[in-house]
Parts: sequence; structure tokens; C-alpha cells
Amino acid sequence: MTDSDPSSSASSSGAASVPLAALAGGAVRRVGAWTVGLSRDEPFAVDSRCRHQLADLSKGSVDADGCLVCPWHGARYDVRDGRMVQGPRGFFGYHGPSRGYRELVKGYARFLPLLRRATSVQGDRVVVDTSSKTGSQNDGTDGSAS
Ligand code: FES
Repeated sequence: MTDSDPSSSASSSGAASVPLAALAGGAVRRVGAWTVGLSRDEPFAVDSRCRHQLADLSKGSVDADGCLVCPWHGARYDVRDGRMVQGPRGFFGYHGPSRGYRELVKGYARFLPLLRRATSVQGDRVVVDTSSKTGSQNDGTDGSAS
């Protein structure tokens, strides 16, 4: 867990957590391989690689609609099912209008939704069940951000 946020913690039980306060204002944090945040006050954990050009989503943010926004080109994800709901605005070093490309990426990304992990709030921390195999492919059984 070398690239986790320093405020996150892990236990031998297969759970890791981050302080709720660290997720205020749309902030997200990395917990192991997972990007953790709050969407409409519900905790979520999704894998951290953008489906566009693999940016680290734990460097992104949650917008007013509760979507996870990629830090590189602004692709937006519905964390309830991991699907990209808006494609990127640009590619490589370019940031700007790219309508056809945006729709193309959104189209292929529907086959590669973000994986999810079960989460819960325990005291003042969001706990991620890092050992859970359930909910890893958007089957709606993990209870995260539903
Ligand atoms: S890498 Fe995420 S939108 Fe481009």
C-alpha cells in the first residue's frame, strides 16, 4: 500500500479506511488500489485507473452531481455502477472541445466500467472492504454508493 494516502490505514482483516473529514468538499483519497470518496453523502470505493488514458482517479474530485471526475481530461463516472457518463475533454496534453472523440471514448468505456468495493461508515472513518470479491463488476451487491 505504498501509494495510499498517509491518512488511510489498513488492517489484517482485509479492511482499510480513511477519515470522513478527508473526503469533505468533493475530495477523494487513495486507499490501496482504490479511490474513495463521498457521492451525495454516500461512501464509495472504485478502482483508480481512468478508462481513457489511465490517470490516477484518486487525484480527481467529486462534482456537484456526485460523479467522480478524472483529473486529466475531465471524464466523469457514476460511482454507483462505475460507468463513464461523460467522455474526456481532450487527450494527451490537449484540453478542450473534442465532441466526436468524447463520444467515442464514452462508447468503448461502457465495456470497461470502474470496479467497485464495498464500503461503510464506522465512526468517523470510511472503511473499504479490500478483501471482498463481491461487487467487483457492477453487480449491485456490494452496497457501495447505492
Ligand atoms: S485520462 Fe481520464 S479523462 Fe483522460
